Amino acid sequence: MRIIPPCTVVIFGASGNLSRRKLIPALFRLEQANHLPEKMVILAAGLEERTREQWIDEVEGMIKAKYPQGYDKETFERFRARQHYHATPLGDANSYDRLKTILDDNPDFPPNAVFYMAVRPSEFPGIIDALGNVGLLKQNSGTRRVVIEKPFGYDLLSAQSLQAGLYKHLNEPQIFRIDHYVGKGTVQNVMVFRFANMLLEPLWNRHYIDHVQITHSESLGIEGRADYYEGSGALRDMIQSHLMQLLALVAMEPPVSMAAEHLRDEKVKVLKTIRPITQSAVHAHAFRGQYTSGTVDGKPVPGYLEEAGVAADSTTETFAAMKLFIDNWRWSGVPFYLRTGKRMAENASAIMIRFKNPPQDLLRAARHEPPRPNWIMLGIQPNDCLKMEIQVKVPGLELQTRTISLDASYRKGGEDDYDAYEGLLLDAMEGDHSLFLRYDEVEWAWRVVDPILKVWAMEREFINTYSAGSWGPRGTYRLFDRDDQFWRHSLDVEGGNLQAY
Ligand code: BG6
Repeated sequence: MRIIPPCTVVIFGASGNLSRRKLIPALFRLEQANHLPEKMVILAAGLEERTREQWIDEVEGMIKAKYPQGYDKETFERFRARQHYHATPLGDANSYDRLKTILDDNPDFPPNAVFYMAVRPSEFPGIIDALGNVGLLKQNSGTRRVVIEKPFGYDLLSAQSLQAGLYKHLNEPQIFRIDHYVGKGTVQNVMVFRFANMLLEPLWNRHYIDHVQITHSESLGIEGRADYYEGSGALRDMIQSHLMQLLALVAMEPPVSMAAEHLRDEKVKVLKTIRPITQSAVHAHAFRGQYTSGTVDGKPVPGYLEEAGVAADSTTETFAAMKLFIDNWRWSGVPFYLRTGKRMAENASAIMIRFKNPPQDLLRAARHEPPRPNWIMLGIQPNDCLKMEIQVKVPGLELQTRTISLDASYRKGGEDDYDAYEGLLLDAMEGDHSLFLRYDEVEWAWRVVDPILKVWAMEREFINTYSAGSWGPRGTYRLFDRDDQFWRHSLDVEGGNLQAY
């Protein structure tokens, strides 16, 4: 069990979507598992006036909505005792002074504070300024940390100016830039898989690997988030952050140790060696699309342009794919294909690694179809699994081959995983940065996507479309380097054999 000093977790935007769906339920689950430090207090901050009792009722509603089966009264009694509410109405300059008095003078509130920005990206710089101006970010009596959600900025330039604003009040060790994807147990498994097994290391390079695919597809649409999504699009929403992190974990060199700075140093090195995409090369390296109406899970769903809050002529992409090259000793010449989309055929996130064909096709006569390369696949969600495809002989007198899948699914019965936010909240309270992004990581990831964003922003007349419930726009195959490369949609042998677009 981790020893975490008592602290006050202040959640800005406490009644908003993120807090309701993720943070409060995650804190409750930590309570259930006895992971919260004894004197830890949750101070919810919101624009509206509320009494403490009203807030506690809301919290109870959030937990029952998320865990109808998992709610239990005994845990909730402990959890309610930690809950407090503080109103920060717009225009009330004194509300931050009052917050300071609480944290400085009220012995019920431990002075170590984690300020969680569960607010719109446009709102947190103002909150951090207000906290800084009243001295709440000075670490005189305890640690003062700030957790910031993605997206960190809107492009390279805005990320740089955001950062400059933060450094007025904070130093880097106080900042926890969250990418919840990195907090997923299955994503951390990429590191275990690579660095706790000797078997793969000799193969993990350009000599044996043909290409790498990283996919995150969702069958859901934008879920009423048009105000955010219209200004974001799939490239910013998923690729600049989550998928780029996955790429860094797959491609990085073994770190000096698992300490936060060592890990982050190696991830930055990968991002720095990604070959820059010039504006004239954008179309050869990136593809975008937008869903039209279609059928998902047997039900008709509207197209993106019909979603509430979306402009009638919007060219915001709901699908983005790109090809990247990492120009270093290990990966030179190996394409990394990344793709993500809303309203796709399935919810599926996976890293798929395709190996090269053997140097000689000795078994060509024994086969009636093209050679099947080896694949290693790491399923991230919904099924976390590890699969490897190899060729074997079909039993019988003839020398025929067949692809089989070695399924190393590792979850044992009864082993329940945690939500990414549970681990990340504990890490922030403890001060462990390993799974949070350092500023240079964010900046280098922006450098990779920035030229694409610029070109797409200029091309406002046209966007490729795909039917909701499909695997994305047809034209994406033009990203592939060769004819025998194709998007792999499934982790099963049968699915892998499809030459799907
Ligand atoms: C978020 C994006 O960061 O990640 C969402 O803003 C996306 O658009 C989500 O749906 C995907 O993460 P998860 O953990 O829900 O699969």
